[in-house]
Amino acid sequence: MPIKHFLQFSDFTLDEFEYVIKRTHLIKRKFKAYEPHHPLIDRTLVMVFEKNSTRTRLSFEAGMHQLGGAAIYLNTRDSQLGRGEPVEDAAQVMSRMCDIIMVRTFGQEIIERFAANSRVPVINGLTNEHHPCQVLADVFTFIEQRGSIAGKTVAWIGDANNMLYSWLQAAQVFNFHLNVSTPKGYELNRELVATDNANYTLFPNPSDACAGAHLVTTDVWTSMGYEKENAARLQAFDGWIVDQAKMQRAQPDALFMHCLPAHRGEEVAAEVIDGPQSIVWEEAENRLHVQKALMEYLLLGRIS
Ligand code: CP
Ligand code: NVA
Repeated sequence: MPIKHFLQFSDFTLDEFEYVIKRTHLIKRKFKAYEPHHPLIDRTLVMVFEKNSTRTRLSFEAGMHQLGGAAIYLNTRDSQLGRGEPVEDAAQVMSRMCDIIMVRTFGQEIIERFAANSRVPVINGLTNEHHPCQVLADVFTFIEQRGSIAGKTVAWIGDANNMLYSWLQAAQVFNFHLNVSTPKGYELNRELVATDNANYTLFPNPSDACAGAHLVTTDVWTSMGYEKENAARLQAFDGWIVDQAKMQRAQPDALFMHCLPAHRGEEVAAEVIDGPQSIVWEEAENRLHVQKALMEYLLLGRIS
């Protein structure tokens, strides 16, 4: 059987996601009840970080431990990757010593090259173009709170970044609609969107994009790796803050999500992220549960 990777959201079918979501519910329930769940005894996860992280590292490391396995953290600073060892060579070596690999890096092509040389499943823990584990957690969180996401409207307010491209793929897989509003000069790159993706609409006005939405979501205006553009972005994104006025255009029971870390007063007002419609802490916690289900699926396939 060919090795299964999770390099972008569209790598899985709806049927596979439905299985992973079903397992996530079970794994989360067991975790909350302090019931051991150790399907991955003796398995080792290696986590390669070329960018900073709090949630991704913690959720993968704690998750693998809770599944009965072990996790090893490597970063560019103190591994040979930072001294120019080719990713192809690193993938060959790591995948002979470990059972599953998570990579957080820059360009998507780096993780694609890594996966092409790996004997074991590779998971995208964030690239410049995609953040599929986060959007899997977000979709799970929506379903947990509101039931099916099919037919619903999600508003994306802000930068055309890795989160947006994963949301666009999720909209197509789960058949919901994405209202997208990005400022001038920071529009989405259509080359990164499937030509047959009819599940999104572009709005020049961010407030209009929120109209009728069941979920409003945003992310930092400057992603990791783009720090030099910070000052220009602060100007260009003026007006794209998700504040109470924008939330009031959405459904009365609309939810607010943010993958975190957040900048209160920039992409989101404190009244929203700290307000009653925000479910950012549930969303962050669910990274743990969905990724445990994801690792279990990639290593063991369907076990129920
Ligand atoms: N949301 C997210 O991926 O957070 P970290 O950068 O802290 O991992
Ligand atoms: N878009 C952000 C997400 C951080 C979790 C970034 O890439 O920095």
